[in-house]
Parts: sequence; C-alpha cells; structure tokens
Amino acid sequence: MSKRPIIEPFRIKSVEPIRASTREERQKLIETAGYNLFLVPSDAILIDLLTDSGTSAMSTEQWAAMMRGDESYAGSPSFARFRNSVQSIFGFKHVIPTHQGRAAERILFSVMCKRGDIVPNNTHFDTTRANCEFVGAQAVDLPVPEAKQPSLNHPFKGNMDTARLAELIEREGAKRVPLVMLTVTNNSGGGQPVSMANIRAVKGICKKHGIPLYIDACRFAENAYFIKLREPGYARKTPREIAQELFSYGDGCTMSAKKDGLANIGGFLCTNDDSIAQQEKDLLILTEGFPTYGGLAGRDLEAIAVGLNEALEEDYLQYRIASTAFLGNHISAEGVPIVQPPGGHAIYLDARAFLPHIPTSQFPGVALANELFLEGGIRSVEIGSLMFGEHAQMDLVRLAIPRRVYTQSHIEYVVEVILDVWRRRDTIPGYDLVHQAAFLRHFTARLKPRGIRA
Ligand code: F0G
Repeated sequence: MSKRPIIEPFRIKSVEPIRASTREERQKLIETAGYNLFLVPSDAILIDLLTDSGTSAMSTEQWAAMMRGDESYAGSPSFARFRNSVQSIFGFKHVIPTHQGRAAERILFSVMCKRGDIVPNNTHFDTTRANCEFVGAQAVDLPVPEAKQPSLNHPFKGNMDTARLAELIEREGAKRVPLVMLTVTNNSGGGQPVSMANIRAVKGICKKHGIPLYIDACRFAENAYFIKLREPGYARKTPREIAQELFSYGDGCTMSAKKDGLANIGGFLCTNDDSIAQQEKDLLILTEGFPTYGGLAGRDLEAIAVGLNEALEEDYLQYRIASTAFLGNHISAEGVPIVQPPGGHAIYLDARAFLPHIPTSQFPGVALANELFLEGGIRSVEIGSLMFGEHAQMDLVRLAIPRRVYTQSHIEYVVEVILDVWRRRDTIPGYDLVHQAAFLRHFTARLKPRGIRA
C-alpha cells in the first residue's frame, strides 16, 4: 500500500454554502425545537449527519444523464437504461422501479406475506419491520451474538446467526416463512457488513427448505468493498464482481437508491419469479405508477442508472470507507466509546458508555446528540430509548456521512467537536419528555433538559 494519503477522488464544481451560527443562536433554535433535532431547520445546521439517505452529491455524469431523461408515461428509454444498469449488477430477471426503498418493501410484503407469517432478517430496518408488521407478519431479527457488543471488534458483525435461522425454520415450519432477508450492510446493527460466506450459508438453508432469499441492498457497494478488504479470496476481485456474486445467491431484492444509488430519490424491487413480478407490477400501478417509471421521473431513473455504477468504483469506495473510518478511529483513540469497528456509512457513538451518569430513562442518546449540536452545529440522530422506548437494547448516536458531500477538513471539524464534548461529558444533563405521539415518537417528541448545568 502506498503511504500517500487517500484523497477525495473528485473536484468540486458547484458549491453549497453552509452557515456557522453562534452558541446563543443554537441554544435558541434547539429550545424552539423542543430539544428535538428533527425539528431544527436544516439551514441552521453546519454539518448535517442526520442521514446518508438521499443526501449524496451527484456527479457531472449524473447531471448530464438527467438531461437525457425521457418523461414518457410508458416505455421510456430512460427506463431501459435504468433496467440495464440494475440488471448488469444485480442480475435479477424483473426490475420494478419505486419512489424509494420502503415502497419496494410495502409491495414485496403485500404480495409475499400473510397474517401469521414470519420474516427473518439479520436486522430489519425500521421501515422494513413496519411494512412487514403492517401485513400481519412477524419481523424477526437474527443477528450474530457479536453484533450486540458495541466495543467488540469483528470483521462481519452484520452476519446472520445461521444456527438460529435453521432452528426457527425447523420449529415453525417452512410454510410460515415466505422469505428470508439479509440487509447489506446492516444499518440498525451499526453499518456492519455481511460476509459472502454468511450469505452463502443463509442461501443454503433457504434452498433446503424452498424459501426465497431477498437482499435489502441499500448499501450493497459498501458491503462489497468490505468483503474485498476483509474476506479471504476476494482481494483481487472488483467490487462489481463481488456484488454480482452476492446477488447471485438472492432470489430478489429491495433497494433504496438514496444510498448506494447515489441519487436523491428512488428505489426498486427485483425478483426472478414471473408470477410474483406480475402481482407486484399490478400493485405498483395502484399506488406508484406504470411499471416503466414506478413513481419516479425519467430523469431520476437516469441518475440512478449512472449512480449505481459510480458507487462501485474502487477509488470512490476506498475514499468512502477511509473517511468514515478516519472519524471513528480518531475519536476512539481518545477513548470515545463507539460501535466497533467503524461501519460503512456511519459512526455510532455508544451514549450509555459516553454518559454513564445519565440513566436510560433520561435519554442519554438525545443528551449527546443535542450537545453535539450546541457545541458545533452538528446534527446526528439518536437510535435508542427515544426511538425504541423500553425495547431499546442500546442508546446510540448515529453520525451518518452523506456520500461525496463533506471533505476531510469537515470530518476533522466533527472529530474536534466530539472530543470537546467528550472532555466535558460530566456536565451534560439528562432529558425529560414533555410531549410524545402515539407511534414513531422520536420524529415529533418535545423534551426538556434536567436541572442547571454544573
Ligand atoms: N432498508 C435500510 C437498511 C435502510 O437503511 C433504509 C433507509 C430503508 C430500507 C428504507 O429506504 O428510506 O428509501 O424508504 N434508511 C434511511 C436511514 C432512512 O437514515 O438510514 P427508504
């Protein structure tokens, strides 16, 4: 390996100003927002790490392709280019465009599941779980035990526990399991990758019982690159070849193109099954649109067609993974507790270990996220007791890195802000809830800090 630093493999043609605010301004903003960062206007944020979804910077090639977008209602050549691009990587027979990932999930579960069914996954993302439960099926998470220990270092913490999968199918009967899913990378489990060996093993179990395997493919390119770096036998393969092998074990997939499609909107659903595809297309027409646009503009299809290929470029993936690891490694070297090892799209701070004086009933994740905003205008998201209530197994703060958006000096700034908060962690107060909605309360909750700062 060359000792030269890894640089951003792009130069910047169009810039978007970001605005620094004063601490007093931020104090006012967060008070008005009920101490909930979802309710702070984004133009008041300096570095926005709320999500890596739909926040990518598009390339000149993507913008150029958008001008080629054909907006015909049916049979658009933009759809043909989109389908060809998807098929050359994913290899599935049917490609059904949707406006984003959760629309693909809703259609998939509506067609494949009925009340009482069980859908295992390494870890369901919250929209996947919600769409599965909405049709009356049970969403079961089967992560490997290593996934539950934040500080433990393991190359493939996104793996599924195959022994528990086999046992679940034997116990409940294959008839109750209409599909098995694997989320690559495992977002809810810390952005951790799944190994090819694990995918193969899961496929083996599915095949034995005649159950189709679906991949939640949102971050497939990042997962492919981790396989290249960490799994024996893959160092010489391209991320594209690795992705192609990964999908060859699947019977279909759901995809949010807002992540590794490098697009601001879009998604798709794939399957190899003709009869399932027909039912999915019928449902698509009802709520998304005709099967050659599925709720997207022709220009969106073009942006995705190009973005999927750019996400597999090796210099891009090298920079992407290095940039996330840079953040994780620098703060962890100073003692900041994070989910180890650094994930593909995000760093997850372990708020319970960061703020041991704040009980989970006082939302340590919220306390930490709010402090990062007050200290340096950084927005992150709590994934813990506010989001999941008393079912929360951990209190994490996710710092998701938008693709191709921030430079090394932005990331260095984030490191400094986190370290400043870390040094005065004893002074950070817990929070009380003052308003909550009946479901998905984290989006609209209002809170209040406890007592006066020391
Ligand atoms: N699956 C995974 C693993 C996801 O991370 C997401 C979205 C979806 C499905 C749903 O896709 O948003 O296009 O409908 N994750 C975003 C996030 C929202 O911030 O992690 P969508």
